[in-house]
Amino acid sequence: MSDRGALRAAAANAAPTLTTWLAASLAAAAGSEVFAAGGSAGAPGAAAFQANCAVCHGPAGAGIPSLAPPLLAYPARYAATPEGRRQLAMTVLYGMFGDITVGDAHFNAQMPAFAQLDDATLAAVLNFLVFDLDRAPGTLRPLAAAELAAERAHPLDAAAVHEHRRRVAPAGP
Ligand code: HEC
Repeated sequence: MSDRGALRAAAANAAPTLTTWLAASLAAAAGSEVFAAGGSAGAPGAAAFQANCAVCHGPAGAGIPSLAPPLLAYPARYAATPEGRRQLAMTVLYGMFGDITVGDAHFNAQMPAFAQLDDATLAAVLNFLVFDLDRAPGTLRPLAAAELAAERAHPLDAAAVHEHRRRVAPAGP
């Protein structure tokens, strides 16, 4: 059995723990041509997304039930309002902790902080979510590095990011 086959079998037989899912996801990502096939391989932010985010949110942003939410609709909706844009910036800078609902699915885990990435990289990753994964219209203003810098100037913890989300999160699918 190939390594990938062994991982798939392990993932199928075991309870879906984070460890088995991560292993299967890494194996799938290694062999995946999702973005090459979809034509988004060269999108700014795509490489940083694959390197930093895909392990939990999946190479195409579909998430994984009860472990990490899909990023296929809400980011574009956040990006359409000033407080939603702040929410996106806070989430990647400081992470998030606490139960959330996305569509009709529930998640309650820790999103890690990515403050070690620079403002331009984080803006590019967020724009990849908004314009590539969510296919927001080009009339929507892209996230700018300055918006990341503005949130970086006001450090928060992951629970405070969750509290802010409570006020700005989209509802529904
Ligand atoms: C270790 C797994 C993990 C990694 C890596 C990760 N995330 Fe997350 N992400 C989560 C979890 C878990 C949540 C939900 C947190 C909660 O329940 O409060 C989340 C939530 C989010 C949300 C908020 C969704 C919403 O509806 O409010 C965004 C946006 C997001 N992640 C983007 C990213 C981006 C961009 C990256 C890479 C820079 C990334 N994530 C990397 C696990 C991860």
